Amino acid sequence: MLINGNEYKSLWLEANRVLMIDQNKIPYSFEIKAFEDYEAVIAAIKDMTVRGAPAIGAAGAYAMALAAAQAPDEKFRSFLRMAKDKILIARPTAVDLANGVQSVYESTLKFIPDLVHARQIAVLAALEFAQKSEEDCRRIGVIGQEIVPDGARILTHCNAGALATVDWGTALSAIRMAHRKGKKIFVYVSETRPRLQGSRITAFELEQEGIPHAIVTDSASGFYFWKNEVDLVLVGADRVCLNGDIANKIGTYEKAVLAKEHKIPFYVAAPLSTFDYTCNHGSDIPIEIRDEDEIKRWGDIQMANPGSPALNPAFDITPARLITGIITHRGIFKPKEAAQKTHQSHS
Ligand code: MRU
Repeated sequence: MLINGNEYKSLWLEANRVLMIDQNKIPYSFEIKAFEDYEAVIAAIKDMTVRGAPAIGAAGAYAMALAAAQAPDEKFRSFLRMAKDKILIARPTAVDLANGVQSVYESTLKFIPDLVHARQIAVLAALEFAQKSEEDCRRIGVIGQEIVPDGARILTHCNAGALATVDWGTALSAIRMAHRKGKKIFVYVSETRPRLQGSRITAFELEQEGIPHAIVTDSASGFYFWKNEVDLVLVGADRVCLNGDIANKIGTYEKAVLAKEHKIPFYVAAPLSTFDYTCNHGSDIPIEIRDEDEIKRWGDIQMANPGSPALNPAFDITPARLITGIITHRGIFKPKEAAQKTHQSHS
């Protein structure tokens, strides 16, 4: 992705260090953090220094590579298992995290007792996972831009951009490619309370690419549907189930209901790492509940009645019947077919 004219990835692995753009600081400042300890990467996933389903999948894979480097020879296997279990629970909803961690763990175990080789394999498996995820996202852009008409006014929610992935983005990859093809598009950026991934991060990415856009409050989208000023909804996902139900950032479901009411296409973009081939339907997905202070405070500023509790689910479920299609690296599929088609093509 282009930031201030330079090419970056959201995160990368370099000489036994994980480097990541600090997404909590975007757009106010641009800082890169470096981690040498897998437990510090877990903390960065939890506090959302790195966020977005494919990005935390890569972070989990890289954390496993660090854990393999840190593991003492005599306890290699048990250390690795403990690290895997700790990373897996850093955030529960995006299945990319489990997919990233598991793929590095399983590849590494195969090379025990050759620990020199096992540690090298951990790094290679982590790099391969991240590269595959990045390539899926690029393909999603190439394929997804086809459903973006010239002149389209697109609504997106949260940040499914390059920063939420290793690079390119998912929903934003399609938007980015449509813009690069010369299509005249306009993007409504839903601000995404309470952590403002839309108004901070998506708006930042669109501005960096010169894509026309405007931030709207989460509750304003209905108004623009009603005015017939939305032509297409494009969002990402944190988990796609076998039946085509998806989890995505809280507020996605109501955009899908609005799209149905107004007969507007609602597309979801997801790389292979976001598919959960063990999940039958949306009600099986664990929904992360975050701290109420995210709603009641912004830094030091008190924004709500201090004595009132607040409820803070970070994701909701959009059922398959509300989704027009799922954009994948292999094509655009009906939600009910997406898992099967991507699974077949994978094996
Ligand atoms: O809580 P976050 O910011 O990690 O959630 C990420 C999202 O829900 C994004 O909207 C997204 O669609 C998934 S990442 C491409």
